[in-house]
Amino acid sequence: MESTRNKLIKLLAEHTEDYISGQMLSEKLNISRSAIWKHMKELERDGYQIEAKSKVGYRIIGFPERITENTIQWGLKTKWLGKKVIHREVTNSTQVVAHQEAKENKGHGTVVIADEQKIGRGRMSRAWHSKRGSGMWLSMILRPELPPYLAPQLTLLTAVALADTISDMTGTEPLIKWPNDILFANQKKCAGILTEMQAEQDKIQYVVIGVGLNVNQQLSDWPEEIQERATSLQIETNQSWSIQSIIQEFLCTFEKTYDMYMKKGFVEIKKKWEAYGFKIGEWITIYTLQEKKKAIFAGIASDGALLIRNESGKVERLYSGEIDW
Ligand code: BTN
Repeated sequence: MESTRNKLIKLLAEHTEDYISGQMLSEKLNISRSAIWKHMKELERDGYQIEAKSKVGYRIIGFPERITENTIQWGLKTKWLGKKVIHREVTNSTQVVAHQEAKENKGHGTVVIADEQKIGRGRMSRAWHSKRGSGMWLSMILRPELPPYLAPQLTLLTAVALADTISDMTGTEPLIKWPNDILFANQKKCAGILTEMQAEQDKIQYVVIGVGLNVNQQLSDWPEEIQERATSLQIETNQSWSIQSIIQEFLCTFEKTYDMYMKKGFVEIKKKWEAYGFKIGEWITIYTLQEKKKAIFAGIASDGALLIRNESGKVERLYSGEIDW
């Protein structure tokens, strides 16, 4: 059951433009006016900024720099994404919570956010280090009307939205390394995407897109073997960033990118992805089970495959294989 405190924050958050009277709050929450006053004092102690005008009422003018369902939703300029936010201070993985939620409720657009993950999941059964309060750890539930073979496009569009968010907010120049790592010119990775899907033969039931972005870590926050490959926005820009603002900005950018994709298809996403593409137009070495070959990385195909141009000029699609970038 939702607490009185949360109901009160919600009511205040819905009325940021006008004052809401103590009388009305007391009727809606079914508590006395002195209990309302006590809650307001408690909220102020927790970092909420409340304006109280005598004979008029209360108005919230600032939320604390702390992630909760309310602080994320306050000022979130999306139409459908994040209308339901599930926040956990600690969880094993936001992916697990999101799968449960998708099974129990419909949940298109629900976002699960954690301050800390104990068993953060990366691609190919790797671990994802998710120290408390140091990054954006979230999973989005989507129910796109798409055949399952197009699901890789959702991962590619997520990478574009993430790169746009990073570049707009920090002024840095992120790159996307195929299939979906975000890194910088120093080849250090700051973000990754994990897409997990439930599907029937010709229909996606739902996808959970997990996004991990390193925001305020120092190198010493990672084990030594990871320090060589990892970076954070703080390391790259020498300043710390508000995780709350980054989450809001990312959700907004993701929603716009997703809506554009649903309306216009993959063409625009492909263009943007390739503009961010790491080593596009450069020689790379590919190791398959049968051979080792050199080819030029020419771009991405609409099914998410890597397009390579071999020495004779022929373009091929590559779905797997080790790449020496
Ligand atoms: C990768 O690059 O290997 C993908 C990393 C994905 C990490 C995110 S953090 C939020 C969500 N929850 C998880 O357990 N994993 C994803």
